[in-house]
Amino acid sequence: MIHVVFVCLGNICRSPMAEAIFTRMVEDAGLKDRISIDSSGTGAYHAGSSAHPGTLRILTEHDIAYDGISRRVEKRDMDADYIVCMDSENRADLEARFGRSDRIHLLLEFSETKVRDVPDPYYTNTFEEVYELIESGCRGLLTHVKEQLIE
Ligand code: 4NP
Repeated sequence: MIHVVFVCLGNICRSPMAEAIFTRMVEDAGLKDRISIDSSGTGAYHAGSSAHPGTLRILTEHDIAYDGISRRVEKRDMDADYIVCMDSENRADLEARFGRSDRIHLLLEFSETKVRDVPDPYYTNTFEEVYELIESGCRGLLTHVKEQLIE
């Protein structure tokens, strides 16, 4: 089993979107028994809440369901094979709290996009643009993880 956890700040906008999109891709690839997927946030502001309405709306528009509840990152998240951050601030926060790890990545490292940080739609309200970026990162991540499964 390969464990993937997506991390953002609030765990209500970007990392739930990544979790939902990646879950759909993994299901479509017939790999749901081989890849586990979760998400969390470096901040606890929204712990216990559903995803942001903007994230839920864009997921619904793409026919993807999501019912996850926000939680703060925990030490056990650092045991995942892929700890996939939405931006460099998330990564710096994880490293400050738990130490460096070569299993900590930025999502957009796995895509061809020029930007490396997924902008935060909580502030920018650009949920569609963020969806496209996250989808592109998830597609690259799935290709990468599939190669690990073959080896
Ligand atoms: P997210 O967005 O990290 O993509 O879930 C945010 C959600 C909430 C806050 C910041 C970012 N906040 O400060 O409450």
